Amino acid sequence: MRPTAFSGAARVAGVVGAPVRQSLSPLIHNAWIAAAELDAVYVPFSPAPNRFDAFVTALKGGSVAGLNVTLPFKAAALGLADVADPAAVAAGAANLLLFCQDGRIEARNTDGIGLLHALDLQAPGWASPAGPAVVLGAGGAARGAVAALLGAGSAVHVVNRTYERAVEVADDLQGAQPVAWGQLGEALTEATVVINATAAGLEGEGGLDIPLHVLGPHAVVMDMVYMPRLTPFLRQAKARGLRTVDGLAMLIGQAVPSFEALFGCPAPPEVDVRALALRALGEAGP
Ligand code: ATR
Repeated sequence: MRPTAFSGAARVAGVVGAPVRQSLSPLIHNAWIAAAELDAVYVPFSPAPNRFDAFVTALKGGSVAGLNVTLPFKAAALGLADVADPAAVAAGAANLLLFCQDGRIEARNTDGIGLLHALDLQAPGWASPAGPAVVLGAGGAARGAVAALLGAGSAVHVVNRTYERAVEVADDLQGAQPVAWGQLGEALTEATVVINATAAGLEGEGGLDIPLHVLGPHAVVMDMVYMPRLTPFLRQAKARGLRTVDGLAMLIGQAVPSFEALFGCPAPPEVDVRALALRALGEAGP
């Protein structure tokens, strides 16, 4: 890839994670920076997990404009912020930290925007009043998804292997309904959208054994995991002829508002960042 030109006055932002080497965010943001001809650069950071707090605290004051935050630091990032937007509070996690010049740290969560963007793009008309959205999982990723779906007016059922955690999510996010893992089949029968927000499906993790055959033919199946892009869960859904939404669309959907917050300029729409990302993932497909 052609190196981006930037000066000593460049605006610096980045992504922090552990590991971060697989992150597609530098590729996406630097492509937008180049297209917008900004004097800026977006770099990866990977502090030791037990040094995350010290790393973030050292950036107070704005020499780095802000950071996207990925696993495993999203909850810790929220804990370090002085102010947080409602989406970050609802998720109990932040995927974006902005460093104000007065030393304050502002936390935001743009994952929910990304999730709704991905559904709108890859499954237009997904928001059906005919049945609830079913979210699998009860961690920060699931909380963010539940909050976004409730905000979009969907009924939401939260299904988690550990039922108590599903109940906690429903207690915190008014309107969501907890469902025991043993009742998953019944919950899926009515579902119009099913979203995997568990860690299962991640490369190296076991897949999910979900009875997708009970879903109606118009149900939409989404996985928040994007590495691999076609998770075993999405492959199963495709094999059944169901509409699918991938985590890469969500990644790009959260990057758009992140870019604007970090660099003060809209992400140039003419850049096909999905094609760039697919190439980086070794795929050429849609
Ligand atoms: P995050 O905050 O990143 O979303 P987390 O808090 O570690 O991550 O939550 C991971 C989620 O994946 C949990 O809902 C977990 O279920 P439990 O609460 O029962 O642990 C879920 N999960 C992980 N592996 C799973 C598997 N093999 N089958 C079903 N759920 C799984």
